Order: sequence, then C-alpha cells, then structure tokens
Amino acid sequence: MLWGGRFTESPDEAAARFSSSLGFDVALLPYDCRGGRAHARMLAKIGVIERAEADRLVEGLDQIEKEHAEGAWSPDPAEFEDVHSAVEARLFEIVGETAGKLHSGRSRNDQVATDVRLRARDMCDEILDALADWRRALVEKAEAHVETIMPGYTHLQRAQPISLGFHFLAYAEMAKRDAARFEFVKTEANVSPLGCGALAGSTLPLDRQAVADELCFDDLARNALDAVSDRDYLVDFLNAAALVLVHLSRHAEEIVLWATTEWRFAKIGDRYATGSSLMPQKKNPDMAELVRGKAGRVLGSWVALTTTLKGLPLAYNRDLQEDKEPVFDAARTTLDALRITTAALRSTDFDRERFLAEMTGDFSLATDLADWLVLRGVPFRAAHGVVGLVVKRAEETGKRLDELTLDEMRAIDERFDESARDVFRIEDALERKRTIGSPNPDLTREEIARHKRELTRE
Ligand code: ARG
Repeated sequence: MLWGGRFTESPDEAAARFSSSLGFDVALLPYDCRGGRAHARMLAKIGVIERAEADRLVEGLDQIEKEHAEGAWSPDPAEFEDVHSAVEARLFEIVGETAGKLHSGRSRNDQVATDVRLRARDMCDEILDALADWRRALVEKAEAHVETIMPGYTHLQRAQPISLGFHFLAYAEMAKRDAARFEFVKTEANVSPLGCGALAGSTLPLDRQAVADELCFDDLARNALDAVSDRDYLVDFLNAAALVLVHLSRHAEEIVLWATTEWRFAKIGDRYATGSSLMPQKKNPDMAELVRGKAGRVLGSWVALTTTLKGLPLAYNRDLQEDKEPVFDAARTTLDALRITTAALRSTDFDRERFLAEMTGDFSLATDLADWLVLRGVPFRAAHGVVGLVVKRAEETGKRLDELTLDEMRAIDERFDESARDVFRIEDALERKRTIGSPNPDLTREEIARHKRELTRE
C-alpha cells in the first residue's frame, strides 16, 4: 500500500478490484523501471540521496525488469493497484528501506505520464516499421503489374482502364501519409513530464533536463498542470491508427470482392485463406474480413479516449487510467492488421488474363473517344453527347465499341475517321495517358522508383 497514514480501514475488495490497472499496465513495467533509474541517478546528482543509494536503486530496478522479462517474478493483480505500486513493493523486498527514497519529488501522476510516453514512442516505431513493410509489398506488386491493364472504377461501376500497379500505388500513397502521421505522434510524445510531480512541480531542486536527457526526450513539458493531464498525443496516436485501419479495410474490401467467383481477379494464398466446416468447395478471405472488421474496434478506441478526456477538470483525474486499454489494444490491432495484410498481399496472385478478358468489350474507352474529338476542335460537351450516341448504338446493336464499323460511327458524327478506331486498342490505353499522376506505365515506373528511394531513406 502506497499510502496509509491517514486511513483506518483498508479498501473494500470490490473497490480494489474495480480500480486496479495492473492487469493491463503491467505492460509499462520496463518503462517504469527505466524512468525510475533516471530519477534515482538524478536524485543523487542533486544530492537528495547518496550515490551508493542511487546505485542500489538502479540495480534493484534492473533486477525487477530482468526477473519480469524472464518470468521469474510477476506481480499479482489481486495484491497491487497498479504497476507502479507493484514495482515499488518489489524494490522494498530487494533493497530494503532505501526503496522509500525513490519517490522523492515524484508522483505517480508524472510517473505514469512518463511511462506511457516512453511506450508510445516505441509503439510508433514498431508501427512505422510495419507501415514501411506494407508500402514495400505494395511497391513490389506494383512493379510486377505496371502493364497489367484492369478496369478502374468509380461508384463501383466500370470507369476507365488503369493498371493494377497504379492501383497498388494508390495504397502506397496512403501508407506514406500514415507514416507521416505516426512521425508526428512521435514528436508529440517525445516530451518529458518527469519532475512535474502531482501537478505543481517540486520544492526539491530536481534536474528535469538530466532526466529527460537520460530518457532521450526531445523536450520538457512546460506546465506541470498540463503535463500530468495531457493525453492529446494519445488521441493523435489513435487517430493515426484509426486511419491506418480505414486504409487497410478499404484494401481488404477489394480483396474480398476480387476473390469472389463473380470477379475472379485475385487468388489468395492458401496460408491466408480459410475453408468452411460444411461446404467443401469454399475458400474464404477471412484475413481480409477480419482486418475490415477490426477497423471498427480501433475507431471505437478513438471515441473511448476522446470521450474520457472531454470535460475533465485539471489536472490528473483517475479517469485518465482509462487511456491505456484503448491505446494498447489499438497499437496491437494496428500492428497485427498491417502485418497480416502485408503477408497476405505477398501471397496473393492477380490474374492478368482475367482482367483483360473482362475489359474486352466494355465501354471504358468512351472518354478516350471523346478526347479524340476534343483534340479535333469539338467542344467537350458536344463530344460527350456524340460518344453517348456511339455507346447507345453499340448497346442497341449488341456490339462492342471496336466492332462498330466506321460507317456506323460516321452516321453519328462525320468527323470520325479511321484513326478514331485506334482509340479502342485496349493495349494502348495506358500509354495514351499523359498527365502526372495517371497510370501511364513510364510515369508509374518513376513513381515506383520514388517510393523505393523514400523507403530506403527511412
Ligand atoms: N494507475 C494510475 C493511472 O493509470 C496511475 C496513476 C495514479 N495516480 C493517482 N493519483 N491515483 O493513471
């Protein structure tokens, strides 16, 4: 028990259980030991404790971290309120009364704020690695499919031809923005609250900079009241995580569609698909479905934390203990979803011939025909109308666009000549694109090279 002086009764059992966070904040144990060591060394530096006492505290905390990592000791959630009290109690067992000196000038409020910031930094790094790997897998697939023509959709209706490589690079852009968001979160997290005490700093001459330097923080929190109650960077973390899941779930949805018998665009590797217990023929895209499903959970975490923070008076309030579960769960889910999506993507084959077969005979080159007229001086609105009539004619006669004779086309508009029919060569559809950001294969290759450069720089 960390207090007791003014209490005559111990806590009610149900109340103790209700308020215990050890079940989930035990994940902070290595960070709690690390923060404790930095604080102990600083206390010796400013002469509040002896150097030998600091050494004992540091060794004790090292031992606790090691014992815990090796499974030789783990605190019992029924016994301790949180990881901080568990570590302190174990420290008493190891170093005796000196343990009581560690908390000089420190409160659990600045302690927990420090621990979570340290962990957030590491979580960002892990997610950044996983994001880079997803982006790498997308770029690999893009490279293999620069010239794989496929239908591009808007409103899930055939729109214009694109390449499968171009399609993957759209997700590579999302992955790039996701990484930028996590870099930002890292900067926001990288501020030291240690030395802010419960809410108002300390009368001890604490050297906050020395502690921040040891813990590799970029900066010091400038207002103690804010420092112990600020969880904004965790909302940023959840926002970044939620957007990753939004992106992954869009990708997942396409894989689900493409793996259907109706589309048959994608063949997921057996290791990332599942069968049915009843229907022997089934091969289900469960990984993609789960990723899509888990997006709800991460978005829910954002709502949970933001709601907890809303209306909280300054400074620390116990409500803030509710920050950990949504954040830790979102971090785990984001990492898992990224890794499984990346591995499943690498295992998936995309059927070039199938794409092409689907595109033969559709009307997705209609815009290109309108552009052909525009390049011959026809106002686009008029060209749009003319091509609308061409499409109608093809539909009425049951023909594909490239099966219409020149005479049939000229009956609609005399300006058509033989070269208009070249537009219908699907193989040339991508080369004809000229604008930056389009699926022109040369441009796609340049974009692939840029992604690779950026990925090696990271
Ligand atoms: N378990 C607490 C949390 O996660 C630690 C801080 C407790 N501080 C306090 N004043 N009761 O927020």
